[in-house]
Amino acid sequence: MAQKKGMFLTLEGLDGAGKSTHVPWLVQELSRRAINVLNTREPGGTQLGEQLRQILLNQPMTLKAETLLMFAARAEHVETVIKPALAQGQWVLCDRFTDATFAYQGGGRQLGGEAVNALEDWVHPDLQPDCTWFFDVPLSVARERLARSRDLDRFEKEGADFFERTRAAYHERARQFSARIRVVDSARAITDIQTELAEQVDVLLTRWRSG
Ligand code: TMP
Repeated sequence: MAQKKGMFLTLEGLDGAGKSTHVPWLVQELSRRAINVLNTREPGGTQLGEQLRQILLNQPMTLKAETLLMFAARAEHVETVIKPALAQGQWVLCDRFTDATFAYQGGGRQLGGEAVNALEDWVHPDLQPDCTWFFDVPLSVARERLARSRDLDRFEKEGADFFERTRAAYHERARQFSARIRVVDSARAITDIQTELAEQVDVLLTRWRSG
């Protein structure tokens, strides 16, 4: 019998939305349910991707270069890590994916969706997340959380307008792909958020087992 493909789960949200708090917890929850899970991130997830991440987060560049480098890292990640893992039945939990490019470059940097759509069609025409959690907080909360951290990267140093546009683009994606993208109110207590996530993990597991 052919190996059942794993599920592809992604996490999204503004910097300071609290997303990274939930990554290790989700890995633990999935493992507890006997799911073999691969935890990865973008930009990054491969040797090349991690090198590109350093450049992307620190080196000023044009918007086209930034968008292409995000997709260069993604192309390597999709072909050498994500697809092989899914094919072997592993679940992949990825901290950011192409929705981030629609939100940050398309929305925040005002590139628009057309170029991102074209790159998505070229780089991963046959791959979409099965479920995306968009951790959403009001801008003031995200900025307050960021203000507490010291070494801010190139994106985190952006102004309020940039993050307003990025958040609006995430909401637009969530409206457009409402079956895939769950908006998680991330201003709540961590335990409330985790209760909601645990319920959704159980739904995904049932769907996967019966699929
Ligand atoms: P992280 O801090 O959540 O790991 O993400 C790194 C930064 O990269 C974050 O500020 C968002 C940004 N980013 C984009 O601008 N476009 C993308 O496609 C991705 C994956 C990340």
